[in-house]
Formats: sequence, C-alpha cells, structure tokens
Amino acid sequence: MDSTENRIEPIWTTIDEKTRYPIYIGTDIIPEFGALFKERMPRCSRALLVTNQTVEEVHASKISQISESLANLGVDLIVEAIPEGERTKSYWGLGMLYDFFAEHQLDRQSVIIAMGGGVIGDLAGFAASTFLRGLSLVHIPTTLIAQADSSLGGKVAINLARLKNIVGGFYHPEMIYTDASFLQTLNARELRAGLAEVVKYAVIMDEELFDYIETNVENIIAKDPDVLEKLVRSCCEHKIAVVEADPEERTDRRAILNYGHTIGHALESLYHRYLHGEAVSVGMVAASYLAIKTELLAPTDAERQSKLLSRIGLPTDALGVLIDPLLQPMLHDKKRRGNTLRFVLPTKIGATTIKDIPKKELPDLLQYLVEKRIFSPSEDATAIDEG
Ligand SMILES: NC(=O)c1ccc[n+]([C@@H]2O[C@H](COP(=O)([O-])OP(=O)(O)OC[C@H]3O[C@@H](n4cnc5c(N)ncnc54)[C@H](O)[C@@H]3O)[C@@H](O)[C@H]2O)c1
Ligand SMILES: [Zn+2]
Repeated sequence: MDSTENRIEPIWTTIDEKTRYPIYIGTDIIPEFGALFKERMPRCSRALLVTNQTVEEVHASKISQISESLANLGVDLIVEAIPEGERTKSYWGLGMLYDFFAEHQLDRQSVIIAMGGGVIGDLAGFAASTFLRGLSLVHIPTTLIAQADSSLGGKVAINLARLKNIVGGFYHPEMIYTDASFLQTLNARELRAGLAEVVKYAVIMDEELFDYIETNVENIIAKDPDVLEKLVRSCCEHKIAVVEADPEERTDRRAILNYGHTIGHALESLYHRYLHGEAVSVGMVAASYLAIKTELLAPTDAERQSKLLSRIGLPTDALGVLIDPLLQPMLHDKKRRGNTLRFVLPTKIGATTIKDIPKKELPDLLQYLVEKRIFSPSEDATAIDEG
C-alpha cells in the first residue's frame, strides 16, 4: 500500500516562531500512530509511555499496537503505569515519574508519551518539562476532558494539598494524537463530566455547537462515534484559536476558558466527591446567576444552559455545600488580582465577558447564589460535608 494513502490530516497549531505542532484527530487511528510519531521525531530511539493502571488494563491492545509499530521503526517503548486518580497529580506522583525516568536512563532524545486523562497529561507533561530541562512530549488523551481540553494549550501542573494546579508551567508537546475511540470505554459519569467542558466551549464561544449538543444529547450519551469525534474536533478548534491568540494567558482572551472554573475549582478542592467536570457544571450555573445579578445575561439563557446540563445528567446546584468555606479557595484563586476576583460571565449563549468583582462584593454575590438555591447557607449545620 502506498504509505501516503489514508493519511490523517492534522490540525496544525502555531504557538510562537519555535513552537508549531500537529494535532491528529480521528476514530480508531492507533494503527497509524507509529509512523506519524517517527516522522515527527526521527531521532528518537526510546520512548516512555506513562499511563495509569486502568488505562493500561482497558487499552492493553492499543498499547501493544503502539509498542509493536514503534519497535518496527527502531523505537524501544517502555510502559509505566501509575495509580489512578487526582492524588497522583502531586509531589508523590511526580517523584515516582522522575524515578522511572532516571531508572530507565532517559536522555535528551527520549520522548515521554502521556496516555490517559487530564491527570496523566498534566503530571507527565510537568515531569517531561523539567526532567533534563525538558524532554519531548506526546499526548495521547483518553478521556473527553483530555481530548477536548486538557491536552491542548500546553498547561502542565501538579496540585498542592488543597490548591489545584498551583505548581506548573507552559510546555507544549511535539504532537497530540486524539483517538476518539478511547471514549467508548469511559464510564457514563466520566463522559458526562467531560461534556461539561464541551458545554463550556459552546456557552463561551459557539451557539451553533450549543444547538448541536441540545439536538444530540441522546446520541452523545449513547457514544455515537461520529458525534463524539465532532464534539472533540469542535472543542479542539476553539481551544487552539484561543490559545494561539493568547498562549500564556496574558490577556483576557485565554481567560475565557476559565468559565465556570473559579467556583468549580473551589468546590472540587473542598469536596472531593465532585469530578472536575461536575464541579465546573455547578460553577457555570453559579456564574450564569452572577451574570443575571450583574445584568449581563438574560434569565432565559441561564435557564437554557441549566436545562442542557441537567439533561446531560450534570449537577446544576450543590445544595448541601455551605457557602462560607467556598470563599477561601476563591480568595486564593490564581486568577485573583489584588482586591478583585476575575469572573468569566456569559452575556448570551455563545458569548462571554470578563468581570472584575471586588472581593468585598463577593459575600453578597455568593448570598444571591444561596437565595437561588445553588448553595446552602452556612447556618445549615446539617449540611456539613468534610469531603
Ligand atoms: N491542562 C489543562 O489545561 C487542563 C484542563 C482541564 C482539566 N485539567 C485537569 O485534568 C484533570 C481531569 O481530567 P480527567 O477528567 O481526564 O481525569 P482523569 O485523568 O483522572 O481520568 C478520569 C478517569 O477516567 C479513567 N480513564 C481514562 N481514560 C479512560 C478510558 N479511555 N476508558 C476508561 N477509563 C478511562 C481514569 O483512569 C480516571 O479514573 C484535572 O486534574 C484537571 O485539573 C487540565
Ligand atoms: Zn476544566
């Protein structure tokens, strides 16, 4: 067969003069991975694939395919699987990876392949960015959050105890390889959590995508491969456009991606029962109410968003969560500036604005969220949850 047949056309992203790389998106495209990897990194003879134990088990055949195709091209693949979960995105997990890298005597030609969800991408990306002052990195994202969002944009990080993504940097991969067929094995809850980020893109910048999700909720939940690939592709295109315009979040352009995340991060750092996407879902509903309160958004648009999130099966309130403890992590949020907090607030479905809210106004605004029954008042002692 002619090797130029069936080539997957990548989307190229250009971050600066030195940073330009391809993003391959498709369904069942693992067989083509080896050749495209070698073409991109011809000098690589050793790669270390970092994954977690779940992905290693569920996708053993994909890993073998990658290993064999790389071996045929002269690349030796080592696979290391670490325990799953957000808690590995920590000093502990980072130390584990550095030890593997040292043990396998990785050198400057070695490549780290991060295969997994956002936890693996952020953690292995951060490890790659610092080991030997930077090893080449390839992302193979396997969750909807990772495919639609976290593998793109170059942010790598670990958490400290209750502070999410507080230690990190910007580090772009050599390529991103997004095979939407990984999503077929995601459990329903993880799929729904990923859809929160997809809805985020629709609300902040694409009303047509919002309509598409509304029309296709059942197909999405049923994991229709074409629909999933389309969602991933749309989100990638949006994220690339935003990141290219503001790679290091120096202007308001990239900040819009934090829609739903100020309150979402506070919620997930305090209450571990929330998945990232679930917390973001509540955060988007809360932000839409703040937008109503500050007269930026029509209540009908906020209701439309809440209705879609609840059809997907995502939480639209966090009754039982007390309002006061939420304030603390928000005051420490990375996006704070002096005495104001930055909120990304929608102005309609498909458009947003950034609003700086003085810290002293925050308690009142949060009180409004209590009135709207998104959070519980702090006197409600029955609702305490230590997470
Ligand atoms: N870097 C960024 O720009 C960015 C953006 C958004 C989120 N994030 C980070 O991403 C993380 C959340 O990502 P996530 O939701 O992917 O979490 P995750 O990496 O923990 O994955 C979620 C779960 O899915 C499992 N899994 C992964 N792939 C699977 C597959 N194909 N089939 C079955 N199970 C699979 C994992 O083992 C895990 O249990 C958070 O740490 C968040 O801070 C980073
Ligand atoms: Zn997110």
